[in-house]
Amino acid sequence: MNNLEGKVAIVTGGATGIGYGIAKRLANDGANLVMVDLDANMMKQSASEITARTQEVEISIGDVSEPKTAQEAVSKAINKWGKIDILVNNAGIGGVNGNIWELDIEEMDRVYRTNLRGVFSFCREVIPHMLEKDYGRIVNIASIVGVMGNAGQANYSASKAGLIGLTKTMARELASRNVTVNAIAPGFIDTEMTRVLDEKVREKLVEQIPLARLGLPRDIAHSVDFLVSDRASYITGQVINVNGGMLM
Ligand code: NAI
Repeated sequence: MNNLEGKVAIVTGGATGIGYGIAKRLANDGANLVMVDLDANMMKQSASEITARTQEVEISIGDVSEPKTAQEAVSKAINKWGKIDILVNNAGIGGVNGNIWELDIEEMDRVYRTNLRGVFSFCREVIPHMLEKDYGRIVNIASIVGVMGNAGQANYSASKAGLIGLTKTMARELASRNVTVNAIAPGFIDTEMTRVLDEKVREKLVEQIPLARLGLPRDIAHSVDFLVSDRASYITGQVINVNGGMLM
């Protein structure tokens, strides 16, 4: 457990799955939260569950790829708490699967908009506030397939590989100002994103995982918790693989 009392965190895609797991973990450690998501109903429900157990949470409803969503989330944090210490860029979509020659250009754009433009937009809005305090922790949720590629996921894996490049570049730009930027590359995690796979595909996946199970949102949340803690203050520009040993 980490002491995040007094810290302020923004978590995107916080309504469900990995993002909700991360939001719960940070709130349990005492952080004040702005949770951002497209899905208003699910967001309200998730935020109220966190509020019931820990503290007040601000919510911001919108599409991360629209600059006004980041502007609104940042205003909420600054108006209420006067700073932003932590940004977790988690919102992401899988997109349509298919070989590259079968995918529409529009489908490529759609995945890039959320997975890359959304992160770019949140970082642009949040970083000036981190620089003001000479402190910040940014964690980007990439993917195992951004590291190793995956047949049938050109759009998704390219967006996540791009996110890793963005992470390393921002880490270099911000290191002298005590802002660290890291990525986590989850393997296959049991959320809505992977529940759409049919049972046979899931079984085949599990066979490729040395720890013999899909990951849980809390497996990722624990790693985020470490990266935003003081114990990780000398770690920046890294990609932490959390995948049950699927990629070594
Ligand atoms: P999920 O589909 O269960 O949840 C994603 C959340 O993000 C939802 O609440 C959704 O409403 C929100 N969201 C999606 N697009 C948005 C947008 N444009 N603006 C605002 N909110 C948006 O997904 P999951 O599995 O929790 O994934 C979270 C992150 O982890 C994603 O970036 C995903 O690519 C990444 N990831 C997931 C893996 C998995 O096996 N589940 C594996 C590797 C990476």
